[in-house]
Amino acid sequence: MTPTSATGTATTPVPTPVELTLPALLVTGEPVQRSGKTLGELSSSYLDAQGVDPAMPLYAVDVWQRGETAQVGNLFVGMTTLQPGTVNGEYVMTRGHYHQDPNAAEIYVGVAGEGLLLLMTRDGDARTEQVRPGSIHHILGHEAHRLVNTGSEPLKVFAVWPTTAGYDYEAINADGFPVRVFASDAGPVLQPR
Ligand SMILES: [Fe+2]
Repeated sequence: MTPTSATGTATTPVPTPVELTLPALLVTGEPVQRSGKTLGELSSSYLDAQGVDPAMPLYAVDVWQRGETAQVGNLFVGMTTLQPGTVNGEYVMTRGHYHQDPNAAEIYVGVAGEGLLLLMTRDGDARTEQVRPGSIHHILGHEAHRLVNTGSEPLKVFAVWPTTAGYDYEAINADGFPVRVFASDAGPVLQPR
């Protein structure tokens, strides 16, 4: 792993402490923080999680930041890896959140797999975007966002967002997103809640 202690100068280039490793498509390096979610932690997000192993891994997020979290203008860099599969027919998805700062936009870039990005505002406007390798998604600061893996491979999405964005999960817990995405023989079906 690349050491973090390398100190670059204007005339002495150093390798970055974090990189996008290929072909694994993971953000790796010593300063990267990994967090993960299992079904047991998010079972209430699904319509029906009865009978499904709560230890089922749903997704992991690898995050890196170079500057101080509290400094306005600094950015997180991250990669979400969302597992394929369903919970009683409902595709694996992220918890989803609003940013506490409605001015804090976020960029997603699809890098592997296929899925959907659910977006909604507190006013009830909603849209769904297709996520695929190369898709670029500009999430406005006031839009809640959730990823859904509708493919058979891990869905990997690279993201950049302000370190001061903050996360509001409670509004999602209370009201959810306007659609749920289920598997069917004909492909993903978006069902209104
Ligand atoms: Fe976000």
